[in-house]
Amino acid sequence: MKVTIYGSGYVGLVTGACLAQVGNDVLCVDVDERKITMLLNGEIPIHEPGLDKMVQANIAAGRLKFTLSAAEGVAHGLFQFIAVGTPPDEDGSADLRYVLTVARSIAQHMDGYRIVVDKSTVPVGTADKVRTAMQEVLEQRAFNTEFDVVSNPEFLKEGAALDDFMKPDRIVIGTDNPRTTELMRELYAPFNRSHDRLVVMDIRSAELTKYAANAMLATKISFMNELANMAELLGADIEKVRIGIGSDPRIGYHFIYPGCGYGGSCFPKDVQALERTAREIGYNAKLLSAVEAVNYRQKDKPFEKLQKHYGANLEGKTVALWGLAFKPNTDDMREASSRTLMETLWEQGVKVQAFDPVAMEECTRLYGQRDDLTLCKTADDALDGADCLVIVTEWQQFRSPNFDTIKTKLKDPVIVDGRNLYSPEQMAKKGITYYAIGRGC
Ligand code: UDX
Repeated sequence: MKVTIYGSGYVGLVTGACLAQVGNDVLCVDVDERKITMLLNGEIPIHEPGLDKMVQANIAAGRLKFTLSAAEGVAHGLFQFIAVGTPPDEDGSADLRYVLTVARSIAQHMDGYRIVVDKSTVPVGTADKVRTAMQEVLEQRAFNTEFDVVSNPEFLKEGAALDDFMKPDRIVIGTDNPRTTELMRELYAPFNRSHDRLVVMDIRSAELTKYAANAMLATKISFMNELANMAELLGADIEKVRIGIGSDPRIGYHFIYPGCGYGGSCFPKDVQALERTAREIGYNAKLLSAVEAVNYRQKDKPFEKLQKHYGANLEGKTVALWGLAFKPNTDDMREASSRTLMETLWEQGVKVQAFDPVAMEECTRLYGQRDDLTLCKTADDALDGADCLVIVTEWQQFRSPNFDTIKTKLKDPVIVDGRNLYSPEQMAKKGITYYAIGRGC
């Protein structure tokens, strides 16, 4: 089938590559000339395991193409996927400028029926806005043709995006028209094998489903972080509590890991956008505000632990920092806990020696060269001459380090662990002063 995808960012590129992988003829459109040039050469502008190989293989097979031309994009695909960014406005609501620009340009070049698929995370009611924007342009053109708008939210996790797309646990389709259900079913058939994963519903419910999923997951994390903070004051161990509650299948083990807060491109933005939607409809979404507030506070935990150890004034110290990305297997630093920590440390006159397996280039892009930031070649190098070690991202390679090296290299044998990677008992045995989240230390 012929598919056009607008936006070659995270969602667009993964969708494009995976749809091409199963044999579709995919054309990706982006306005960023630099990005398109890179992609035409098989270079991938983001870090996602396996994506480069999949893109390159499908380019070579002639199933995946890139262009700057919207006209070409509209001419190409029966399916017109909108996967452009919806950055948060100053007030937290999603900015639909790019989505509606794409919708208008589809209508501008359309010569017959198209199915327009909203893949970007967009507030409830966006499909109606897309339809209206397209109708206006068609009226201006005095051109009459049928088209459908479908909501098809994505549930990809960074770092596992290909697997999530190729083996989805559900494919949500929001539609008001049986014709589109059949077309979408056909397009997704290769991903819908062992049992029917297509969940078909009305458009608004599909749009809300995406926010509901992310807000629920963010709520689980903030709930555990709230409990972790209480456990600390109560002399309980949140890790034991986590196992104690996770064994109840109604609660489950997923997404109940306490830590120094969630980050990334989705949770912070989507919880805020849903809160904003609530405000617009005159509803006070108290739970969502609390989820957001707890997370904001949690990102300060590593700094608070440092103050707990060294006292309020940290000026002149050097902190070794392991982890910059908002989570493992990505170079994404959007809303990362590392940023809150580094920015606070710098304000206090503290130097940072950081290491991250993949996010250091991104860190330089964000912060440039600074006297109070050294990006180190290895995790061990980051320890050299530092006062203590702080961990904010749970990369696999940090799970079992050589604690003797850590002790030798650091001025003080102090670890502040924002992700609860080690056991307090083991740390005590090794003579390391260990601070974790919700573990009484
Ligand atoms: C998320 C959703 O999982 C995905 O379905 C959606 O499409 C996009 O948003 P992603 O942002 O890639 O995906 O990251 P995810 O793996 O969900 O982690 C989000 C954040 O929560 C990370 O900062 C992680 O460290 C944190 N987290 C996760 C916790 O603090 N505790 C947990 O138990 C789980």
